[in-house]
Amino acid sequence: MWPHTASLVLLFALFGNVASASSACRNIPGSPGYPSLMQWNAFNSTISGRLVPVVPSAKYCESLPRSACTDEQWTSALFRGTIPGAMDQVNWEQGYDLKPPSLCLRNGTSTCGQGDVPIYSVEAETVEDIKYVVKFASNHNLRLVVKASGHDLLGRSTAPNSLLVRTSKFQNLSFTDAFFVGDENMGSAVTVGSGVYANTLYEQAKTHGKIVVAGAAATIVTAGGYIQGGGHSALSPLLGLAADNALEFQIVVANGELLQVNGISHPDLFYALRGGGAGSWGVIVSATIKTFPTFNATQITTLLTATNNSVAGELATLHARHIFDWDSVHASQYVSFAKDPTVAGSAIVFGMATFVPDTTTSQSEALMEPFLNASLALPGVSLLEQQSFQNTVINDILFQTDDSVATNAVLGSRLIPASTYSESPEKVGEVYKKLLDCGTAFVVGVFVAGGKVAENANISSAIHPAWRTAKSHVFVSKGWNDSASVAEIRSIRNQFQTTQLPILKVLAGPNAGAYSNEADVLEPDFQHTFFGPNYAKLSAIKWRYDPHDLFIVGSGVGSERWDEWGICRV
Ligand SMILES: *[C@@H]1O[C@H](CO)[C@@H](O)[C@H](O)[C@H]1NC(C)=O
Ligand SMILES: *[C@@H]1O[C@H](CO)[C@@H](O)[C@H](O)[C@H]1NC(C)=O
Ligand SMILES: *[C@@H]1O[C@H](CO)[C@@H](O)[C@H](O)[C@H]1NC(C)=O
Ligand SMILES: *[C@@H]1O[C@H](CO)[C@@H](O)[C@H](O)[C@H]1NC(C)=O
Ligand SMILES: *[C@@H]1O[C@H](CO)[C@@H](O)[C@H](O)[C@H]1NC(C)=O
Ligand SMILES: *[C@@H]1O[C@H](CO)[C@@H](O)[C@H](O)[C@H]1NC(C)=O
Ligand SMILES: *[C@@H]1O[C@H](CO)[C@@H](O)[C@H](O)[C@H]1NC(C)=O
Ligand SMILES: *[C@@H]1O[C@H](CO)[C@@H](O)[C@H](O)[C@H]1NC(C)=O
Repeated sequence: MWPHTASLVLLFALFGNVASASSACRNIPGSPGYPSLMQWNAFNSTISGRLVPVVPSAKYCESLPRSACTDEQWTSALFRGTIPGAMDQVNWEQGYDLKPPSLCLRNGTSTCGQGDVPIYSVEAETVEDIKYVVKFASNHNLRLVVKASGHDLLGRSTAPNSLLVRTSKFQNLSFTDAFFVGDENMGSAVTVGSGVYANTLYEQAKTHGKIVVAGAAATIVTAGGYIQGGGHSALSPLLGLAADNALEFQIVVANGELLQVNGISHPDLFYALRGGGAGSWGVIVSATIKTFPTFNATQITTLLTATNNSVAGELATLHARHIFDWDSVHASQYVSFAKDPTVAGSAIVFGMATFVPDTTTSQSEALMEPFLNASLALPGVSLLEQQSFQNTVINDILFQTDDSVATNAVLGSRLIPASTYSESPEKVGEVYKKLLDCGTAFVVGVFVAGGKVAENANISSAIHPAWRTAKSHVFVSKGWNDSASVAEIRSIRNQFQTTQLPILKVLAGPNAGAYSNEADVLEPDFQHTFFGPNYAKLSAIKWRYDPHDLFIVGSGVGSERWDEWGICRV
């Protein structure tokens, strides 16, 4: 009997190990395995005292000298970036789905719950700090969350009962004329720390006579989530997606090692870091991306009104018919149809920002004229303001000082194939009208595909192939204010799936994809919608680099194994 007992003990011991590595739930306060205060303190000293308690942004404001943030502070992405717990869209801080719901609202009642905000943050300053936090979270089976900025439209950089690691202090920025991968000279490039905002990057690149493919908002961090999502840019029709231009990453992976990842070293992870989803692979320290000689461009701003939804639909069809007018110059466009409460009646405001590389003001005016004239000939369409033109170096055109944020909002999106615009432009108008009719506040078409994005189809990356045949990425957004009830908010959060997607599907066609950084986190088939045919390969890479699912985000690779908070396996 002894040998049998011994093997049972051995089996038990083995099982115990397996259980602690992949047990059903992560440790949260109150779990037997949750670190004691002493363990937190010891951890804090290994990271030079960089462990801070995290609170929701509304509570943070109450702790300020005048017990409040000004409206300017509250809505500033730069200011919010200084608050570890703050998200740009405040709704991600709220625990609507916790039982009971846990909220912390600005000017709210005296109660303030922790909601979906982490408990502690490591305000990392060195790679060693990151290695320590990854090992600590892994050893103690904690929910680890990674954040570089609060610019996160899917709430992937926050989670209840979690430990946050912030890379905002990773501000290194260095330019080179010759970046080598192995012994291949990849040309001029910049290595950008994962805390560097797009506006800083545009500004610094300008002083070097360079431009890079980066985001449209001031506080998008290029190295982190932006590139892992693919990274669309006003420069994409000319220069490709940001992920197409990435040459190398420095990343701390789940076993606590710092890896240098490029086409030669860890090519599988390099593939995943380019389009395989934000937050799923490790903690990004920096990315090296190609730089290009800078150039002048023109930004044209066009503002029209349409008297009602039918007219807005006709305008959308007209725009679809003209969408190839600007291909020869590799222009990009951001086009929104919005119900504007400051404009009387049921009018819809049409806003269009066009970015035209290497053109003068008069050349770009001529390029816009056919569409503008035809628009103004539509009954019910009029100019809200004279078209305006800004012609200068592209870095200054793309530079934004700050982003105005702090609303409650969720998005849903689809990539729309170029063939939809060429073959059935009238469908665009029909769909837009229906979306507006069902109460959608914004329909935004981001025309950043085609051109170089299509030409880059043969690059080995996890970019959803739908990007390569798309003309636009269209998203709808719905917001609410703090007086909305939890039940109302739940219905708004589900509205993309219940109401808007069935309408938008008509434009996206079969095997439709969506841009995973600007999308609905509740996509039921996110594997196909965000990653298409790449999901199986991405899953295999995930097993190799993160076998115990330390890095889990909503609708990210591997998240099908976890609940919505990434706390318990399902
Ligand atoms: C970590 O240590 C620093 C410096 O000693 C201290 O200011 C901070 O409050 C500690 N953090 C926590 C969560 O105790
Ligand atoms: C909330 O409070 C701030 C500061 O106390 C104030 O400036 C702001 O107007 C208030 N906002 C609302 C919507 O009441
Ligand atoms: C920033 O650059 C300096 C100098 O090259 C280097 O010592 C440091 O490790 C870098 N920091 C990070 C976080 O990469
Ligand atoms: C657009 O309209 C203006 C003013 O009516 C006219 O001068 C111009 O020739 C028109 N352009 C085109 C391309 O039709
Ligand atoms: C929308 O506006 C157009 C142009 O002003 C008008 O002809 C049409 O009757 C309006 N449609 C509706 C449904 O109000
Ligand atoms: C680019 O724009 C700047 C600022 O407007 C101007 O000074 C410069 O001459 C322009 N360069 C070219 C090549 O047009
Ligand atoms: C992709 O195709 C283009 C031509 O369309 C070619 O110049 C480029 O070298 C190819 N790249 C790869 C990685 O195969
Ligand atoms: C907030 O939203 C509700 C509808 O959910 C609306 O009735 C109310 O007027 C809004 N309040 C403000 C201040 O916008």
